[in-house]
Amino acid sequence: MPSPTKDSLRDDVERSTREFDESWAKIKDEKSFRALRNRYLSRKRGVVTLLMERLGSLPAESRPAAGQLINRFKKHVEEKLQTLDKGLAAAAGSVSPAVDLTLPGRQDYRGAAHPVLLVQKQIEDIFRSMGYTVEQGPDIETDYYNFEALNFPPDHPARDDWDTLYINDKLLLRTHTSPVQIRVMERQKPPIRIINPGRVFRKETSDPTHLPMFYQVEGLVVDEGVTFAHLKGTLEYFLKRLLGEKIKLRFRPSFFPFTEPSAEVDVECVICRGKDSDCRTCGGSGWKEILGSGMVHPQVLKNVNIDPEKYTGWAFGMGVERLAQFAYNIPDMRFFYENDLRFTRQFHLK
Ligand code: PHE
Repeated sequence: MPSPTKDSLRDDVERSTREFDESWAKIKDEKSFRALRNRYLSRKRGVVTLLMERLGSLPAESRPAAGQLINRFKKHVEEKLQTLDKGLAAAAGSVSPAVDLTLPGRQDYRGAAHPVLLVQKQIEDIFRSMGYTVEQGPDIETDYYNFEALNFPPDHPARDDWDTLYINDKLLLRTHTSPVQIRVMERQKPPIRIINPGRVFRKETSDPTHLPMFYQVEGLVVDEGVTFAHLKGTLEYFLKRLLGEKIKLRFRPSFFPFTEPSAEVDVECVICRGKDSDCRTCGGSGWKEILGSGMVHPQVLKNVNIDPEKYTGWAFGMGVERLAQFAYNIPDMRFFYENDLRFTRQFHLK
């Protein structure tokens, strides 16, 4: 027997290609399709495997070229079988048994902005339209920026109101975005008109209106002749633009170490509108606190070398999830972070 040469292998590949193409053209049903696939691609006795096995008996220098030839043939067989596979399934009006019908369909998912981010953007847009700039700061803060510069002396009981997650004696996860206001006042002189959105952290148990991590947007205005009337007018204008002209608001006296006087703003509970004495969102009061505000305490201005005799300022801070809850009528804040796409996708059209 003559030893196999490169040429006879080449001839055989060509012949196999012709034969395959002929059989391929005749395939009509699933059965003949499988038989053809087996004949050419079966690992043990398939035509392609048998051709490959013959490579070993070729002289070393002709192996690479012959190998390429066989690979090209294999690819040809695979591609042609693939087109037939699809065509057969469509023609039979059924899906070949190789398809697992229990798998979810293939579909490209379009991402959607998270509702909390959408509301944050709306808040930013409203304030930008009034000439505010957006400033950011770090999530991990020092005790100085989160508390001391904001007029909380060490050991002051007001610190207890911010359930703080400490990293060590000096570092903590910021409990509010007010430290960004200090950082901005340190580097920028009045007039200042900023908002600072960002993530904040508190040692709290989740419930329908509380989360251990949430987003805040705080704002600060410092200039000559700034008064509480500006604060009230701006916040009213802002909240009506965000929640609708008809939303009911109330300003309530409050306390923050960094503002004096201070006020909290409540909006009417849009979940029950005060009609459900067991409402889990407002506790039956019909109101829900959404932001804290006040005139910047003179000591805070002194801490950043701004003269409180010349300048006054006001500040506010609000929780974005709570506003999103009211903007979209969502009864439970925890929905925002359960990562259920059926929930989050609903908002992308707004
Ligand atoms: N920093 C306060 C908080 O997190 C909110 C606030 C900001 C209150 C500015 C007054 C002025 O609760």
